Amino acid sequence: MRKKFVAGNWKMNMLGKEAGQLARGVAGGVASVTDEVDVVLAPPFTALRIVAEAIEGTGIRLGAQDVFWEERGPYTGEISPAMLVDAGCEWVIIGHSERRNVLHETDAMVRKKIDAALAEGLRVIVCVGETLEEKEGGETVTVVDGQVESALSGLEIRDPSRLVIAYEPIWAIGTGHNATPEEAEFVHATIREIAGKILGGVADRIRIVYGGSVTEDNITELLAEPDIDGALVGGASLRADAMTSIVLKAGE
Ligand code: PGA
Repeated sequence: MRKKFVAGNWKMNMLGKEAGQLARGVAGGVASVTDEVDVVLAPPFTALRIVAEAIEGTGIRLGAQDVFWEERGPYTGEISPAMLVDAGCEWVIIGHSERRNVLHETDAMVRKKIDAALAEGLRVIVCVGETLEEKEGGETVTVVDGQVESALSGLEIRDPSRLVIAYEPIWAIGTGHNATPEEAEFVHATIREIAGKILGGVADRIRIVYGGSVTEDNITELLAEPDIDGALVGGASLRADAMTSIVLKAGE
């Protein structure tokens, strides 16, 4: 049985004070299920410390939305894995489609970030997913396969709880059009198969979560699918009541 996993990706939202309030709101609501569900909040870098304080002792874990692969040095604007650990992070999101598309992050960059983050002891949520054009061209599996292979080949994962793969079809992110549970399950099962070829038996114990317009209204049907182990939540994670409800439903 894989433990359910729900992460809130706040993206470029929340100033310090509102971040603290949101984190406290979620922490208060989900306390009863943090043994059954891994809950991660990923605020922007500038709110990491305030959220770290707000969730201290609550069972919620702190995550960052990105990381750089070098340890230190002349990389203006970048944040190292050790800096994230220092700020209280246990998790980091890597390869989000907004970074791949808006900031031109490549598979190779994503892979360097994964290696650096794992080496520092961080746990990694790696995102994969196809564009609408690729979906309509019937290329979903090819695209996602390529991203998973690049992210995982040669990686040694002994502890499956340290890696989460997020399937986030780009056409479903922030659009209100989520993939149907069946569509998502098909891709999740494919990802598990590829991960199994690369990592071996441990792939059965890696969480594969869905992202893209997840709300309190569709989480239950998504989680009813055998290979959907949780969610990476964007927009809905900015509301304490919606995020709480998603986590509680994941714990049912
Ligand atoms: P969304 O974003 O829930 O707002 O669609 C998900 C994500 O990008 O992680």
